[in-house]
Amino acid sequence: MKITHAQESKIKNIDFDNLNFGEIFTDHMFVCDYKEGQWKTPEIMPYQPIQMDPSSSVFHYGQAVFEGMKAYKDDADGVWLFRPEENFARINKSSERLSIPEFPEEFFFEGLEKLLDMDKEWIKKGAGNSLYVRPFVFASQAGVQASASNAYKFMIICSPVSSYYSGREVHVQVAEKFSRAAAGGVGYAKAAGNYAAQFYPTTLALNEGFQQIIWTDANTHEYLEEAGTMNIFFRINDTLITTPTSDRILDGITRKSILQLAAHLGIKTDVRPISIHELLSSKEDGSLKEIFGAGTAVVVSPIKGFGYQNKRHILEDAPDSFAAILKDHIVNIQRNVVPDPFGWRHEVKTTVSV
Ligand code: COI
Repeated sequence: MKITHAQESKIKNIDFDNLNFGEIFTDHMFVCDYKEGQWKTPEIMPYQPIQMDPSSSVFHYGQAVFEGMKAYKDDADGVWLFRPEENFARINKSSERLSIPEFPEEFFFEGLEKLLDMDKEWIKKGAGNSLYVRPFVFASQAGVQASASNAYKFMIICSPVSSYYSGREVHVQVAEKFSRAAAGGVGYAKAAGNYAAQFYPTTLALNEGFQQIIWTDANTHEYLEEAGTMNIFFRINDTLITTPTSDRILDGITRKSILQLAAHLGIKTDVRPISIHELLSSKEDGSLKEIFGAGTAVVVSPIKGFGYQNKRHILEDAPDSFAAILKDHIVNIQRNVVPDPFGWRHEVKTTVSV
Protein backbone atom coordinates (compact mmCIF):
# COMPACT_ATOMS: atom_id res chain seq x y z
CA MET A 1 0.00 0.00 0.00
CA LYS A 2 1.29 3.46 -0.88
CA ILE A 3 0.98 5.99 1.96
CA THR A 4 1.25 9.78 1.71
CA HIS A 5 0.78 11.79 4.89
CA ALA A 6 -1.01 15.15 4.96
CA GLN A 7 1.51 17.96 5.44
CA GLU A 8 -0.56 19.53 8.17
CA SER A 9 -3.58 18.26 10.13
CA LYS A 10 -6.87 20.21 9.86
CA ILE A 11 -7.90 19.04 13.33
CA LYS A 12 -7.07 22.24 15.19
CA ASN A 13 -9.77 24.09 13.20
CA ILE A 14 -12.54 21.67 14.15
CA ASP A 15 -15.12 22.46 16.84
CA PHE A 16 -15.79 18.94 18.14
CA ASP A 17 -18.56 20.23 20.43
CA ASN A 18 -20.68 21.34 17.48
CA LEU A 19 -20.52 18.63 14.84
CA ASN A 20 -23.30 18.08 12.36
CA PHE A 21 -23.49 14.51 11.09
CA GLY A 22 -21.18 13.81 8.13
CA GLU A 23 -20.00 17.32 7.31
CA ILE A 24 -16.36 17.25 8.41
CA PHE A 25 -13.79 14.74 7.17
CA THR A 26 -10.45 13.66 8.59
CA ASP A 27 -6.97 14.26 7.14
CA HIS A 28 -6.66 11.11 5.01
CA MET A 29 -8.62 8.84 2.67
CA PHE A 30 -8.16 5.35 1.25
CA VAL A 31 -8.37 4.85 -2.53
CA CYS A 32 -8.08 1.75 -4.68
CA ASP A 33 -8.71 1.62 -8.44
CA TYR A 34 -10.05 -1.27 -10.46
CA LYS A 35 -8.73 -1.34 -14.03
CA GLU A 36 -7.82 -4.00 -16.59
CA GLY A 37 -9.76 -6.63 -14.66
CA GLN A 38 -8.07 -6.17 -11.27
CA TRP A 39 -7.85 -4.07 -8.15
CA LYS A 40 -4.57 -2.12 -8.28
CA THR A 41 -2.26 -1.23 -5.36
CA PRO A 42 -4.30 0.65 -2.73
CA GLU A 43 -3.26 4.06 -1.49
CA ILE A 44 -3.81 6.27 1.55
CA MET A 45 -3.43 9.94 0.73
CA PRO A 46 -4.41 13.36 2.10
CA TYR A 47 -8.20 13.90 1.94
CA GLN A 48 -8.83 15.79 -1.29
CA PRO A 49 -11.22 16.15 -4.24
CA ILE A 50 -10.96 13.50 -6.94
CA GLN A 51 -10.91 14.16 -10.66
CA MET A 52 -13.58 12.40 -12.71
CA ASP A 53 -14.54 12.45 -16.36
CA PRO A 54 -18.04 14.00 -16.72
CA SER A 55 -19.17 10.94 -18.65
CA SER A 56 -18.20 8.59 -15.78
CA SER A 57 -20.76 5.84 -15.47
CA VAL A 58 -21.68 6.56 -11.83
CA PHE A 59 -23.03 10.04 -12.72
CA HIS A 60 -25.40 8.62 -15.29
CA TYR A 61 -26.43 5.17 -14.10
CA GLY A 62 -25.75 5.30 -10.37
CA GLN A 63 -23.62 2.16 -10.22
CA ALA A 64 -22.43 2.69 -6.64
CA VAL A 65 -22.76 1.11 -3.19
CA PHE A 66 -21.60 2.12 0.25
CA GLU A 67 -21.24 1.05 3.86
CA GLY A 68 -21.37 2.81 7.22
CA MET A 69 -19.44 1.78 10.30
CA LYS A 70 -18.22 3.43 13.48
CA ALA A 71 -14.91 3.55 15.35
CA TYR A 72 -14.78 4.37 19.06
CA LYS A 73 -11.96 5.26 21.46
CA ASP A 74 -11.93 3.90 25.00
CA ASP A 75 -10.46 5.59 28.10
CA ALA A 76 -7.10 3.87 27.55
CA ASP A 77 -6.86 5.19 23.96
CA GLY A 78 -7.81 1.81 22.47
CA VAL A 79 -9.59 2.14 19.12
CA TRP A 80 -12.50 -0.24 18.38
CA LEU A 81 -14.66 -1.11 15.42
CA PHE A 82 -18.01 -2.88 15.70
CA ARG A 83 -18.40 -6.07 13.64
CA PRO A 84 -16.37 -4.76 10.65
CA GLU A 85 -16.33 -8.20 9.02
CA GLU A 86 -20.12 -7.81 8.61
CA ASN A 87 -19.67 -4.50 6.78
CA PHE A 88 -17.01 -6.06 4.58
CA ALA A 89 -19.27 -9.00 3.70
CA ARG A 90 -22.21 -6.67 3.03
CA ILE A 91 -20.37 -4.26 0.72
CA ASN A 92 -19.42 -7.21 -1.47
CA LYS A 93 -23.00 -8.52 -1.35
CA SER A 94 -24.25 -5.08 -2.41
CA SER A 95 -21.54 -4.89 -5.08
CA GLU A 96 -22.53 -8.25 -6.52
CA ARG A 97 -26.12 -7.01 -7.00
CA LEU A 98 -24.84 -3.86 -8.75
CA SER A 99 -22.43 -5.87 -10.91
CA ILE A 100 -19.38 -4.33 -9.21
CA PRO A 101 -16.32 -6.58 -8.77
CA GLU A 102 -15.68 -8.04 -5.31
CA PHE A 103 -13.15 -6.10 -3.20
CA PRO A 104 -10.32 -8.15 -1.62
CA GLU A 105 -10.56 -8.70 2.14
CA GLU A 106 -6.88 -7.99 2.85
CA PHE A 107 -7.01 -4.63 1.01
CA PHE A 108 -10.11 -3.65 2.99
CA PHE A 109 -8.80 -4.49 6.45
CA GLU A 110 -5.24 -3.30 5.85
CA GLY A 111 -6.50 0.00 4.44
CA LEU A 112 -9.17 0.50 7.11
CA GLU A 113 -6.83 -0.19 10.04
CA LYS A 114 -4.01 1.96 8.66
CA LEU A 115 -6.38 4.83 7.90
CA LEU A 116 -7.84 4.69 11.42
CA ASP A 117 -4.36 4.58 12.90
CA MET A 118 -3.29 7.63 10.87
CA ASP A 119 -6.45 9.59 11.81
CA LYS A 120 -6.93 8.28 15.37
CA GLU A 121 -6.66 11.80 16.89
CA TRP A 122 -10.03 12.47 15.24
CA ILE A 123 -11.73 9.79 17.37
CA LYS A 124 -12.83 11.48 20.57
CA LYS A 125 -13.41 9.64 23.82
CA GLY A 126 -16.65 9.85 25.75
CA ALA A 127 -20.29 8.86 25.32
CA GLY A 128 -21.82 9.99 22.04
CA ASN A 129 -18.50 10.50 20.24
CA SER A 130 -17.30 8.30 17.41
CA LEU A 131 -15.79 8.34 13.96
CA TYR A 132 -18.23 7.47 11.19
CA VAL A 133 -16.37 5.42 8.59
CA ARG A 134 -17.78 5.43 5.06
CA PRO A 135 -16.42 2.82 2.61
CA PHE A 136 -17.89 3.18 -0.89
CA VAL A 137 -17.32 1.98 -4.42
CA PHE A 138 -18.45 3.46 -7.70
CA ALA A 139 -18.17 3.04 -11.48
CA SER A 140 -15.49 5.39 -12.81
CA GLN A 141 -15.27 4.36 -16.44
CA ALA A 142 -15.67 7.27 -18.88
CA GLY A 143 -18.48 6.84 -21.40
CA VAL A 144 -22.26 6.70 -21.29
CA GLN A 145 -22.81 3.13 -22.47
CA ALA A 146 -25.59 1.70 -20.31
CA SER A 147 -23.73 -1.38 -19.13
CA ALA A 148 -21.57 -2.41 -16.19
CA SER A 149 -18.43 -0.30 -16.03
CA ASN A 150 -14.96 -1.76 -16.46
CA ALA A 151 -13.33 0.72 -14.05
CA TYR A 152 -14.19 1.38 -10.38
CA LYS A 153 -12.89 3.28 -7.39
CA PHE A 154 -13.13 1.89 -3.86
CA MET A 155 -12.64 4.56 -1.21
CA ILE A 156 -12.90 4.99 2.57
CA ILE A 157 -13.45 8.40 4.14
CA CYS A 158 -14.03 9.18 7.84
CA SER A 159 -16.09 11.81 9.63
CA PRO A 160 -16.11 12.64 13.36
CA VAL A 161 -19.67 12.56 14.71
CA SER A 162 -21.71 12.98 17.83
CA SER A 163 -25.39 11.98 17.82
CA TYR A 164 -27.34 11.80 14.52
CA TYR A 165 -30.76 13.26 15.31
CA SER A 166 -29.44 15.63 18.00
CA GLY A 167 -32.11 14.80 20.59
CA ARG A 168 -35.15 15.85 18.54
CA GLU A 169 -38.33 13.79 18.90
CA VAL A 170 -38.79 11.66 15.79
CA HIS A 171 -42.21 11.43 14.15
CA VAL A 172 -42.67 9.23 11.09
CA GLN A 173 -45.20 9.08 8.30
CA VAL A 174 -46.42 5.66 7.14
CA ALA A 175 -45.97 5.46 3.34
CA GLU A 176 -49.27 5.07 1.51
CA LYS A 177 -48.07 5.79 -2.02
CA PHE A 178 -44.29 5.69 -2.37
CA SER A 179 -42.08 2.62 -1.95
CA ARG A 180 -38.46 2.10 -1.08
CA ALA A 181 -37.97 -1.38 -2.49
CA ALA A 182 -39.69 -4.05 -4.55
CA ALA A 183 -39.38 -7.83 -4.69
CA GLY A 184 -36.46 -8.76 -6.92
CA GLY A 185 -35.01 -5.26 -6.64
CA VAL A 186 -32.05 -3.80 -4.78
CA GLY A 187 -33.62 -3.03 -1.37
CA TYR A 188 -31.27 -5.36 0.49
CA ALA A 189 -28.19 -3.67 -1.01
CA LYS A 190 -26.71 -0.43 0.27
CA ALA A 191 -27.04 0.94 -3.25
CA ALA A 192 -26.64 4.71 -3.56
CA GLY A 193 -29.84 4.94 -5.62
CA ASN A 194 -31.94 3.40 -2.82
CA TYR A 195 -31.18 6.49 -0.77
CA ALA A 196 -31.57 8.99 -3.65
CA ALA A 197 -35.07 7.61 -4.29
CA GLN A 198 -36.05 8.33 -0.67
CA PHE A 199 -35.22 12.03 -0.78
CA TYR A 200 -38.35 13.24 -2.61
CA PRO A 201 -40.95 11.36 -0.49
CA THR A 202 -38.98 12.28 2.64
CA THR A 203 -39.01 15.97 1.69
CA LEU A 204 -42.80 15.80 1.28
CA ALA A 205 -43.04 14.14 4.71
CA LEU A 206 -40.75 16.80 6.22
CA ASN A 207 -43.06 19.49 4.88
CA GLU A 208 -45.88 17.81 6.79
CA GLY A 209 -43.90 17.81 10.03
CA PHE A 210 -42.43 14.30 10.02
CA GLN A 211 -38.72 13.48 10.19
CA GLN A 212 -38.83 10.12 8.42
CA ILE A 213 -41.05 7.69 6.54
CA ILE A 214 -42.03 4.17 7.56
CA TRP A 215 -41.67 2.31 4.28
CA THR A 216 -44.39 -0.20 3.52
CA ASP A 217 -44.39 -3.09 1.05
CA ALA A 218 -44.66 -1.96 -2.57
CA ASN A 219 -47.60 -4.25 -3.44
CA THR A 220 -50.18 -3.48 -0.75
CA HIS A 221 -48.65 -0.74 1.48
CA GLU A 222 -49.91 -2.90 4.36
CA TYR A 223 -46.70 -4.24 5.84
CA LEU A 224 -44.24 -2.02 7.69
CA GLU A 225 -40.76 -2.66 6.37
CA GLU A 226 -38.17 -0.01 7.29
CA ALA A 227 -37.97 3.39 8.99
CA GLY A 228 -36.22 5.96 6.79
CA THR A 229 -32.66 4.68 6.36
CA MET A 230 -33.05 2.28 9.31
CA ASN A 231 -34.51 -1.12 10.15
CA ILE A 232 -37.64 -0.91 12.27
CA PHE A 233 -38.62 -2.48 15.62
CA PHE A 234 -41.94 -2.52 17.48
CA ARG A 235 -42.56 -3.44 21.09
CA ILE A 236 -46.03 -4.88 21.58
CA ASN A 237 -46.57 -5.71 25.24
CA ASP A 238 -43.14 -7.12 26.07
CA THR A 239 -42.28 -8.67 22.71
CA LEU A 240 -39.85 -7.02 20.34
CA ILE A 241 -40.96 -7.46 16.74
CA THR A 242 -39.08 -6.77 13.53
CA THR A 243 -39.77 -7.63 9.94
CA PRO A 244 -37.79 -10.54 8.41
CA THR A 245 -34.94 -9.76 6.02
CA SER A 246 -35.64 -10.37 2.35
CA ASP A 247 -34.57 -8.93 -0.98
CA ARG A 248 -36.44 -5.75 0.05
CA ILE A 249 -34.93 -5.30 3.52
CA LEU A 250 -31.41 -4.29 4.48
CA ASP A 251 -29.70 -6.97 6.56
CA GLY A 252 -28.79 -4.40 9.20
CA ILE A 253 -25.85 -5.11 11.48
CA THR A 254 -27.44 -3.10 14.31
CA ARG A 255 -30.70 -4.99 13.61
CA LYS A 256 -29.11 -8.42 14.00
CA SER A 257 -27.11 -7.28 17.03
CA ILE A 258 -30.31 -6.05 18.71
CA LEU A 259 -32.05 -9.37 18.10
CA GLN A 260 -29.10 -11.28 19.57
CA LEU A 261 -28.68 -8.91 22.52
CA ALA A 262 -32.42 -8.86 23.30
CA ALA A 263 -32.49 -12.67 23.44
CA HIS A 264 -29.40 -12.59 25.70
CA LEU A 265 -31.16 -10.13 28.04
CA GLY A 266 -34.26 -12.32 28.18
CA ILE A 267 -36.41 -10.05 25.98
CA LYS A 268 -38.80 -12.04 23.79
CA THR A 269 -38.24 -11.39 20.08
CA ASP A 270 -40.41 -12.19 17.10
CA VAL A 271 -39.20 -11.85 13.52
CA ARG A 272 -42.33 -11.67 11.38
CA PRO A 273 -44.22 -9.32 9.08
CA ILE A 274 -46.19 -6.64 10.91
CA SER A 275 -49.07 -4.77 9.31
CA ILE A 276 -50.41 -1.25 9.69
CA HIS A 277 -53.66 -2.80 10.99
CA GLU A 278 -51.80 -4.54 13.80
CA LEU A 279 -49.97 -1.29 14.56
CA LEU A 280 -53.24 0.67 14.74
CA SER A 281 -55.05 -1.95 16.82
CA SER A 282 -52.13 -2.32 19.23
CA LYS A 283 -52.00 1.46 19.59
CA GLU A 284 -55.74 1.46 20.22
CA ASP A 285 -55.72 -1.26 22.89
CA GLY A 286 -52.58 0.11 24.58
CA SER A 287 -50.31 -2.87 23.86
CA LEU A 288 -48.04 -0.85 21.50
CA LYS A 289 -45.33 0.39 23.85
CA GLU A 290 -42.48 1.46 21.57
CA ILE A 291 -41.34 1.90 17.99
CA PHE A 292 -37.70 2.50 17.13
CA GLY A 293 -35.35 2.56 14.19
CA ALA A 294 -31.97 0.82 14.25
CA GLY A 295 -28.96 1.62 12.10
CA THR A 296 -25.27 2.33 12.26
CA ALA A 297 -25.46 6.11 12.26
CA VAL A 298 -27.89 6.47 15.14
CA VAL A 299 -27.68 2.96 16.70
CA VAL A 300 -31.25 3.15 18.10
CA SER A 301 -33.65 6.01 17.38
CA PRO A 302 -36.90 6.04 19.39
CA ILE A 303 -39.96 7.04 17.38
CA LYS A 304 -42.37 9.19 19.32
CA GLY A 305 -45.28 9.13 16.92
CA PHE A 306 -46.55 8.11 13.51
CA GLY A 307 -48.97 9.51 10.97
CA TYR A 308 -51.30 7.40 8.83
CA GLN A 309 -54.23 8.50 6.65
CA ASN A 310 -54.07 12.06 7.95
CA LYS A 311 -54.24 10.93 11.57
CA ARG A 312 -51.43 11.35 14.06
CA HIS A 313 -50.70 8.83 16.79
CA ILE A 314 -48.41 9.68 19.69
CA LEU A 315 -46.76 7.09 21.92
CA GLU A 316 -46.50 7.53 25.68
CA ASP A 317 -42.93 7.30 27.03
CA ALA A 318 -42.44 3.63 27.97
CA PRO A 319 -41.04 2.87 31.43
CA ASP A 320 -38.03 0.50 31.17
CA SER A 321 -37.76 1.40 27.50
CA PHE A 322 -36.33 -1.44 25.40
CA ALA A 323 -34.90 1.19 23.01
CA ALA A 324 -32.94 2.81 25.85
CA ILE A 325 -31.78 -0.50 27.39
CA LEU A 326 -30.65 -1.93 24.04
CA LYS A 327 -28.98 1.28 22.86
CA ASP A 328 -27.03 1.70 26.11
CA HIS A 329 -25.89 -1.89 26.03
CA ILE A 330 -24.79 -1.84 22.40
CA VAL A 331 -23.01 1.50 22.74
CA ASN A 332 -21.26 0.28 25.90
CA ILE A 333 -20.05 -2.80 24.03
CA GLN A 334 -18.94 -0.60 21.12
CA ARG A 335 -17.05 1.74 23.47
CA ASN A 336 -15.39 -1.08 25.42
CA VAL A 337 -16.98 -0.16 28.74
CA VAL A 338 -18.71 -3.51 29.33
CA PRO A 339 -17.71 -7.10 28.48
CA ASP A 340 -18.53 -8.27 24.96
CA PRO A 341 -19.86 -11.85 25.25
CA PHE A 342 -20.61 -11.93 21.52
CA GLY A 343 -17.12 -11.16 20.18
CA TRP A 344 -18.45 -8.12 18.27
CA ARG A 345 -15.67 -5.67 19.16
CA HIS A 346 -12.63 -5.50 16.92
CA GLU A 347 -9.54 -3.77 18.25
CA VAL A 348 -7.69 -1.61 15.73
CA LYS A 349 -3.91 -1.92 15.93
CA THR A 350 -2.61 1.57 16.59
CA THR A 351 0.92 2.93 16.75
CA VAL A 352 2.10 5.59 19.19
CA SER A 353 2.33 8.99 17.48
CA VAL A 354 5.67 10.75 17.85
C1 COI B 1 -27.34 3.74 8.83
O1 COI B 1 -27.56 4.28 9.88
O2 COI B 1 -27.10 2.53 8.79
C2 COI B 1 -27.34 4.49 7.57
O3 COI B 1 -27.21 3.89 6.54
C3 COI B 1 -27.50 5.95 7.63
C4 COI B 1 -26.75 6.69 6.58
C5 COI B 1 -27.46 6.66 5.27
C6 COI B 1 -26.49 8.11 7.02
